[in-house]
Amino acid sequence: MAAVAVSHVYPLGSRLNARGRLEVGGCDVVELAREFGTPAYVYAEDDMRARARAYKQAFRAHTDRFEVVYAAKAFPCTAVLRMFAEEGLSADVASGGELHLALAGGFDPARLYLHGNNKSLAELDYAIGRGVGHIVVDSFDEIERLRGRSQRVMLRVTPGIKPTTHSYIQTGQVDSKFGFPVADVPRAVEACRRAGLDLAGLHAHIGSQILELEVFERLAEALGGMGAWPLLNLGGGLGIAYTADDEPPAIQDYVEALVRRAPQGVTILCEPGRSLVGNAGVTIYTVGTVKQIAGVRTYVAVDGGMSDNLRPMLYGARYEAQIADRFGGSDRCTIAGKHCESGDILIRDARLDDPRPGDVLVVPATGAYGHAMANNYNALPRPPVIFCREGDARVVVRRETYDDLTVRDA
Ligand code: LLP
Repeated sequence: MAAVAVSHVYPLGSRLNARGRLEVGGCDVVELAREFGTPAYVYAEDDMRARARAYKQAFRAHTDRFEVVYAAKAFPCTAVLRMFAEEGLSADVASGGELHLALAGGFDPARLYLHGNNKSLAELDYAIGRGVGHIVVDSFDEIERLRGRSQRVMLRVTPGIKPTTHSYIQTGQVDSKFGFPVADVPRAVEACRRAGLDLAGLHAHIGSQILELEVFERLAEALGGMGAWPLLNLGGGLGIAYTADDEPPAIQDYVEALVRRAPQGVTILCEPGRSLVGNAGVTIYTVGTVKQIAGVRTYVAVDGGMSDNLRPMLYGARYEAQIADRFGGSDRCTIAGKHCESGDILIRDARLDDPRPGDVLVVPATGAYGHAMANNYNALPRPPVIFCREGDARVVVRRETYDDLTVRDA
């Protein structure tokens, strides 16, 4: 059997090998499951590098004045931060902890942007002490906290633009805990000046998993119309494919939408998270229990669940799955986790080929906000992160152990 391509939901370069098994980054995922155990987050390193390059090339086709700022929250991991630093990206960090990871990844502090609607004094001190390039100021209280620091800052604005996406991840509307409403911008600019801050430009992030481009054009125009600033940061938000039916806009088209109506001469920044890492990662599980409830449904239970992927429970997010060595099939199944909650369902209507205990199950498109939002519910140790490239696999975050669960006991 020759190698077969798989859909665009899987990491770039993924295929079914001659044994009919999924390969990610040239590694057979059934073998990865044997070697590293399950559940595990498996990433194709080249996928992330290719997308970082696609962003830079897309900008270069229009302008030399741009910065691609990786939103670390999507996949806060030292190894990926190191990789994006190597690729020449900047990074957005949304807490002292994310700042710590970016520095551990070797990021030049000057290329970091610190975000947050409620940064603590300790976080601000940490950022300023390490020479963070820009702090994205979010409130009048924060301006007061920064008084006299002569720090370079940007101002976060809520432009009143509401994209089509889950309400929990809409952030551009006026009724938001983030940023300054447009009406307060002149007063905030003045407050920054009086506090001695070096205000370099405006920032807005209107939401996440956005599949329409028109809102980004409107955003560029709206922010561009709020004064002549050297920097305009249009946030992140480009959506990705979670199932084979999803056709998100290409990175090139998204970048064109950012650039099209932005003022001439301005440096344009964007902060992609999900669109850099989301499709680069899959989660592998082992099927443990198959429960057929006659006339009702078939539950296929795996060795993870809401602790390694909170998105189905939090946003009703839809995913697809396959058995790693038997792609295809039409048996309708509900993929359940192993947590003590009925709502711990990863996928409601997966189509699988006769799932059995011991099968390795693959859920694609878990690269963003999977590891990031992993938790220890039911005291499950969190999964490892494995990077694959040209057939070599390396653990970049090890699996948690039971001892890790008690290590903080005082
Ligand atoms: N910039 C800022 C200021 C942000 O708040 C975010 C995401 C991004 C950039 C990156 O957005 P992206 O390109 O990844 O859409 N946990 C949710 C997503 C929350 C996003 C929060 N902010 C999820 O799993 O869908």
